[in-house]
Amino acid sequence: MPATSVWTRRHLLALADFTPLEYDAVLTTAVSFQAVLAGRTKKVPALQGQVVANLFFEASTRTRSSFELAAKRLSADSLNFAPGSSSLTKGETILDTAKTYWAMGANILVIRHQQAGVPGAIAAEMDRLSSGVRVLNAGDGQHEHPTQGLLDLFTLCTSIDPQNPRLELLAGKKIVIVGDILHSRVARSNLWSLTAAGADLHLVGPPTLLPPQFAQLAPVHLHWDLGPALEGADFVMTLRLQKERMSDNLLPSLREYHQRYGITRDRLQVCGPTVKVLHPGPVNRGVELSSDLMDDPRLSLIPQQVTSGVAVRMALLYFLGGEQPV
Ligand code: NCD
Repeated sequence: MPATSVWTRRHLLALADFTPLEYDAVLTTAVSFQAVLAGRTKKVPALQGQVVANLFFEASTRTRSSFELAAKRLSADSLNFAPGSSSLTKGETILDTAKTYWAMGANILVIRHQQAGVPGAIAAEMDRLSSGVRVLNAGDGQHEHPTQGLLDLFTLCTSIDPQNPRLELLAGKKIVIVGDILHSRVARSNLWSLTAAGADLHLVGPPTLLPPQFAQLAPVHLHWDLGPALEGADFVMTLRLQKERMSDNLLPSLREYHQRYGITRDRLQVCGPTVKVLHPGPVNRGVELSSDLMDDPRLSLIPQQVTSGVAVRMALLYFLGGEQPV
């Protein structure tokens, strides 16, 4: 079984303070779980008897399902909470909902919420009560989406060295993140992991969706024009336009957005010869990237991102639920 010795976190809330050792521990452990998933039984007993509750207060397809599958592959029991049909509609608070799951025996709460900070607040309350419950942030508002950041990192590193992914593989690689950076928790988590890896990181988007302040967060290059940003790129990470988080009219039209910032086969001509395209999903086909590109296995790593998600989330659940850190 993979070693948990470098893992000392009680909760996984963000990548902002992740260390290179932690990144490498996740990458190595996810490779072991990928081997389990490729095997015949596809399951290990690591979390037998433990309960993983998925508390998703916001819509999700791949994150929720892959957490559920990851928990099952580790032999944990998983519970799924649906806010629309829950006691939230009767006035129960989110903290009381979390405590209800704790009282039922949940060991790990996987939380997604439209408001930044909610998983952190629940983690603090769980600690205050000495509950022993671990909290895993599955995306909070515009703050962070650490498991997406880690599965993106795993996908990038395994595309270079499938058996031995490690942070240093991305040192000096030109990685371009394109689109709605402002509203993207995925971009924020990727910013931390990719700068920790020493990648040559470039952000590009319309001025309304890429404020200059991003350059103060980490060593990144900002662009408002796609062409120069893409020159010589090794990887292009596209992001969904988060219309549900846009309070004002920040875009002229989706057509114009695609014309200026949409990734197409033609646009990729200026990139490096082995360029690959990623997208965390869900994709607006023909907006963030052209439909044919998305389905081209020579250029798109999008299916690999989804596949990686299960092994990476197994590693994280294993770290949080396995040997309990003190
Ligand atoms: C992302 C999210 O929810 O932040 N999706 C995901 O988890 N795969 C990105 C998005 O919604 O655009």
